[in-house]
Amino acid sequence: MTLTEAPAGTVKATSAATIERIFAEHFVGVESVLDATYGLGRFWKWDWRAMGFTLSGNDLYAPEPTGPNAPDAFTRMDFTDWPDVAEWHHVDVVVFDPPFTAQGPDSTGHSHNDGYGSTRTLTGAPQNIHDVERLLVEGIKQCAAIARVGLIVKTQPVVESGTLHSSDTLAANTIVKAGFNIVEWIPFSPPRRAQPKGRRVTGLGGRPSMFLVAVNGAVDRRGGNEVG
Ligand SMILES: C[S@@+](CC[C@H](N)C(=O)[O-])C[C@H]1O[C@@H](n2cnc3c(N)ncnc32)[C@H](O)[C@@H]1O
Repeated sequence: MTLTEAPAGTVKATSAATIERIFAEHFVGVESVLDATYGLGRFWKWDWRAMGFTLSGNDLYAPEPTGPNAPDAFTRMDFTDWPDVAEWHHVDVVVFDPPFTAQGPDSTGHSHNDGYGSTRTLTGAPQNIHDVERLLVEGIKQCAAIARVGLIVKTQPVVESGTLHSSDTLAANTIVKAGFNIVEWIPFSPPRRAQPKGRRVTGLGGRPSMFLVAVNGAVDRRGGNEVG
């Protein structure tokens, strides 16, 4: 296998189908879920209400969600700086999918990242790969601080100026330091999307992105009791 090939076992499915499978397998019975980076809501294009939890969406930049799959509540908070309010400490599962590249507008002045908070011109948006990594680490720490039961983090290794940035390893180390146990690594390769012209930051060809599923080490899932 070369670096640009997807490893065996890579899931070829939509992100929604992958999130649905993760909840069915790891998080049956949870009561509240926060998607800290709701974006265009691609993770929620399935019948999540049938799972019985309430869903809160959050995103600093993306449009307000509408339609049948829209979350029960929507906020515009910075995932690197949740306000210290009690209710944020009662979210069972936090889902986190931060920007994985820093990109400016293309030659027409538009960027496919405008709605995704990775366009450099947006205030607070990542200016370079170091900002991307800082957002990943800070965001995971904040999400871990408010997640009672579990965390789902999506990352995408990128090559910038010829250097590989293994964001999945960085994310995994941060998750473990935050006291969570990783219970599943899911290499994930959605159907390919058209890339914008002149794109300089690349993924790794057929190399997948990664869903990391983690459970809070301080919660005994068998009995459902906090043990730490
Ligand atoms: C990769 S996209 C998430 C895509 C989303 N999972 C979906 O299904 O469409 C990253 C999201 O993070 C948001 N974002 C970037 N920086 C943020 C911040 N500091 N606080 C909150 N949201 C942020 C962007 O607006 C963007 O929607």
